[in-house]
Formats: sequence, structure tokens, C-alpha cells
Amino acid sequence: MMSQVLGWIDARFPLTKVWKEHLAEYYAPKNFNFWYYFGSLALLVLVLQLVTGIFLTMNYKPDARFAFASVEYIMRDVDFGWLIRYMHSTGASMFFMVVYLHMMRGILYGSYRQPRELLWILGMFIYLCLMAEAFFGYLLPWGQMSYWGAQVIVSLVDAISPELALWIRGDYVIADATLNRFFAFHVIAIPLILVVLVFLHIVALHQVGSNNPDGIEIKAKKDPVTHIPLDGIPFHPYYTVKDIVGVVGFLMVYFGIIFYAPEGGGFFLEENNFIPADPLKTPPHIAPVWYFTPFYAILRAIPQKQMGIAAMGLAVLVFFLLPWLDRGIVKSIRYRGALYRWALGAFVVAFLVLGYMGTLEPTVWYVNPVARVCTAVYFAFFLLMPIFTRLDRTRAVPDRVTT
Ligand code: HEM
Repeated sequence: MMSQVLGWIDARFPLTKVWKEHLAEYYAPKNFNFWYYFGSLALLVLVLQLVTGIFLTMNYKPDARFAFASVEYIMRDVDFGWLIRYMHSTGASMFFMVVYLHMMRGILYGSYRQPRELLWILGMFIYLCLMAEAFFGYLLPWGQMSYWGAQVIVSLVDAISPELALWIRGDYVIADATLNRFFAFHVIAIPLILVVLVFLHIVALHQVGSNNPDGIEIKAKKDPVTHIPLDGIPFHPYYTVKDIVGVVGFLMVYFGIIFYAPEGGGFFLEENNFIPADPLKTPPHIAPVWYFTPFYAILRAIPQKQMGIAAMGLAVLVFFLLPWLDRGIVKSIRYRGALYRWALGAFVVAFLVLGYMGTLEPTVWYVNPVARVCTAVYFAFFLLMPIFTRLDRTRAVPDRVTT
């Protein structure tokens, strides 16, 4: 009966073919490690955000008069509304955590290098969409931080073109018109683009095949008879099972936060956002959510506003260039020399310190000097990359992957 149904479908739709090509007979390197959990986890968080988002939208009101109260209503009166909202707000932070680790893996193992440049570029577009999605979503609860955070970001546009800022806001201040359009972008426009980009990302991945912790192309060594990569194993069942382990670990952390610390110590849900938006009262300390703070610190570190905006934009966009800045002869950190390791270490420290500086008030005496040094280290990593990757004393890469 089952095979008859399958046969009927296969005659009309390539179900078995897709299953085989992309799962059961898709050969992935046999040496995936911890860092390879985060792609599937990013997919999981995307689905969680879409599903919880749909349920939130059922009770949320995109109207400046009712938005704040509708979120309170979801939290107090809607059955399991608190759970859905906390899943969504925690999911936003988890999305960035997972994606930052996913990107870090790409940097550690040189996964952006030829032939995966387009895969990386698609990933970068996903990252930009994710930032836009988080920014638009943050206005929706219409709390003080929603309002003033949007005010800060739109004022950056204002510094470049007041007409453009007016066009974005749809009013002279952040107002109901702004809330409505941000809602439209958050619930439909950006999610649609995100889903398409993620699909393309996976298509590009399956075209070139996965990289691995050794940075060795497994397609280069195939069995002469079966043409299966000697260092490859079928994605299903080996990696579907491995990914389930990652999912279980992830869900424990995710629900641990939701049940025991949903505000994430003020990092996931900020204190000021429990106060309704008040256009007449600027909060004393405006800071974005943690995942934007490294870039916010760069913005504030540079005294001239336009230059600060340019530096902040470049700090994100420079990642697009990684495939061409890296001139090393090996891909993976395992076979790189001390020069690269120190440079990457300095970059990671600078990124984390910038993130922390971005959460502090700029009046603290050391915030901007420290942020300036870290900004210099941040950009030096990219600017000097063509030099230090070439000078680096790399080790010989083995013929076959190591496990
Ligand atoms: C919604 C966000 C994203 C999803 C759902 C996603 C999904 C995936 C999946 C399922 C894989 C294969 C499994 C794995 O290698 O872990 C993958 C690989 C990859 N992704 Fe993403 N990704 C996302 C964002 C990004 C971003 C922001 C970048 C970089 C800018 C990126 C760059 C890469 C690269 C380079 C690979 C290949 C890694 C390798 O083979 O070593 N991805 N992605």
C-alpha cells in the first residue's frame, strides 16, 4: 500500500529522488564536530520564530494606541500567551547566538573559501535580513526601548538624508504609521525573503558540498567503482541523528531560559520596555539588544556622526569580502600558523569587548577609549588579512580527513 502511494507520488513529483539526493545519498564529510550543529539549529529557530510569530499575530494589535496593551494581554490573558511570547523573544536572541556561532565555524574552517563564496554571500544576506527582522520586530511591543531604539536608528538615516528618514517613518516622529509599516515588514516581507534565502543557501550548500574541520575537499577522493567520496557518510541517518542530539541540547538551554530567566538578565528583554512608549520622555540610557551592541559601540566610538555610521555599516559589510581577503593556502585553523591564530583571537576578543562596551553608558570614562582600540583591532583584522594569511607559516594538510 505504502509503496503504491509512493509510486503514485513519484510519478508526479520527485519525492524519492529529492530524499535520496539531499538526505539518504547526500554524502557529508565524516568528521563533522560540535561546530556543525548550528546550521540545523538555525533552521529549527527559524521555524520556531515563524510558528510562534503566527500565534502572536493572532492577538497582537499593530496600533500605537493598543500595541503595548495587546502584548500585556497576550502575557496575562491569552492561554499560554506568556509561553508563546517568551519563546519568540528568547528565540530572537537564540537566533543570533546560533548564527554567530555558525558564522564563527565558517571563519574557523575557512568555509567561505572557494568554491563556497556564494554560499557565504547568501549567508551574509540572511544575516542582514535577520538584523532587519530583529530591528522591525523590536518596535512592535511599543515600549520605551522599542520607541527610542527606533528613534536612534532612524536618526542615523536622518543624519544622511532627512527625506529618507521621513519616508521610513511615514511621519515626523516615530508614530502609528511607523508601527504599521514595521509590522508589515516584520510579519511578512522579511520572513518571506528569509525563507527564500535560506532555501537558496541550502541549494548552494548541496551544489558544492560541505566543508569540514580539516578544510579538505572530500569530493577530490572518490571510490573508483561507486563514485562515493571516501571520506563521506550519508547525511541520513548519520547526521540526522547527530543533529537530534544538538536539538535536544539546544531545547534544554532554550526552555531553561524561557522558564527560569526569560528576560535574560535584561539582555533579552530590557527593563525599559516594560514601560509604554512615551515620545515626551527619553530614557536616560538607550542601548540596543545584545546582538547589536558590538556595532553600536563602533558607532559611538567615532566622534563624527557620519563617520560613525559609515564605520558601523562597514563593520557588517566587510564580512562579504572574507572569501577574497583570505589569501592563505590552507582553509582550516587546524593547519594555520600562529599569526592567523593570534589575529583571529584578537578579533574575537575585540568583538566581545565591543559588545560589552555597547551595553554600557557612554559617560563611563573608559567606554569610548576601549571601544576605539577594539574598533581599530576589528578593522585591522580584515585590512591586514591579505598580508598575514600569506605570511602565516601553515602546516601540511593531510590527504584524507582526520577523525
Ligand atoms: C537563518 C539562518 C541560517 C540557516 C538556517 C543556515 C543553515 C545552514 C545549514 C543547514 C547548513 C549546513 C549544516 C552546517 O554546516 O551547519 C549551513 C552551512 C553553511 N552556512 Fe548557513 N545558515 C544560516 C545563516 C548563515 C550565515 C549568516 C552565514 C554566513 C554569513 C552562513 C554560512 C554558511 C556556510 C559557509 C556554510 C557551509 C559550512 C561548511 O560546510 O563548513 N549561514 N547553513
